[in-house]
Amino acid sequence: MSPFRVSVAVCCALVVVAALPFSDAQLDPSFYNKTCPTVHSIVRDVIRNVSKSDPRMLASLVRLHFHDCFVQGCDGSILLNDTATIVSEQTAAPNNNSIRGLDVVNQIKTAVENSCPGVVSCADILALAAEISSVLAHGPDWKVPLGRKDSLTANKTLANQNLPAPFFNLTLLKAAFVAQGLNTTDLVALSGAHTFGRAHCSTFVSRLYNFSGTGNPDPTLNTTYLQTLRAICPNGGPGTNLTNFDPTTPDTFDKNYYSNLQIQKGLLQSDQELFSTTGADTIGIVNSFSSNQTLFFENFKASMIKMSKIGVLTGSQGEIRKQCNFVNGDSSGLASLATKESSDDGMVSSI
Ligand code: HEM
Repeated sequence: MSPFRVSVAVCCALVVVAALPFSDAQLDPSFYNKTCPTVHSIVRDVIRNVSKSDPRMLASLVRLHFHDCFVQGCDGSILLNDTATIVSEQTAAPNNNSIRGLDVVNQIKTAVENSCPGVVSCADILALAAEISSVLAHGPDWKVPLGRKDSLTANKTLANQNLPAPFFNLTLLKAAFVAQGLNTTDLVALSGAHTFGRAHCSTFVSRLYNFSGTGNPDPTLNTTYLQTLRAICPNGGPGTNLTNFDPTTPDTFDKNYYSNLQIQKGLLQSDQELFSTTGADTIGIVNSFSSNQTLFFENFKASMIKMSKIGVLTGSQGEIRKQCNFVNGDSSGLASLATKESSDDGMVSSI
């Protein structure tokens, strides 16, 4: 075989390997053991400090990782700001005036760069921040697979397409998860993240006054809870007020999300669908998580690890960004480096 043919064969073999859906096999919890052994504690210290004055930030960071992973994989694409060449995902409908924590990620990145310059990706910071936030909110811990690279692109259109909406029925929710390689158990377990954090009235107000154009409230909403939510979200109001996802333990990661669903106190339609859809296979899963927190935590961990491997870039793909909001060498957006931190304009009405 001529040298040319050998190199073509090697090249093609490499292309085939790169195209296999096993890129996650290259992720490893010990990825930074030699190059940045303190990364976990650096990330933890920043988050612990921020969460002292802003306990909601723990929930916001878990959500940020989810919104990263569902759009072209867990590649830090959600962090990219608008520039001459990037259309940011941050203004896509599910993110706009809603995602939080971008400035905290930058704070983490600065701290990590100070100890280990040019080594740790922003995508890995998001995955680590999600796990650390769960732990700090008294939820489960897990070994985070690491070694993701950061994307060179963002995709706002895909953010609008892939992220599930709060008015989705069970069929649409399942489809959105299946599209990411996640099954029904993953859907129920990951929805359990709505055990902490807040939502704007705009995301559930249609359930309170005019559900699906009926002129009546959602019949699957607890009537006492309905009155509570109506007091927070007036009919025809701006929709910017906030309320807790979990009226029982708002900032704690526990199984109460599922016991709330059992008494029709799911906040979003997409939450209550998991328990109130007649004959659904999700009802039994909700019941089992509601009666066994250990079971919920085990499933949440497994599903978070699965989600964190969606479409990752590894090896020679992508890059380690120097600044999480910009691809390396894109100086066109640096003038607007102050990251827009949104959603704090909403008034917290129920705490
Ligand atoms: C199943 C489909 C899902 C839908 C339709 C959905 C929708 C939403 C909506 C509408 C909000 C409120 C946003 C706002 O008002 O600003 C929210 C918040 C939140 N979501 Fe989800 N979500 C889903 C799944 C998930 C998953 C899989 C996770 C994480 C594993 C997650 C974690 C969170 C957290 C922690 C918050 C509170 C964030 C904060 O307080 O800043 N969600 N979600």
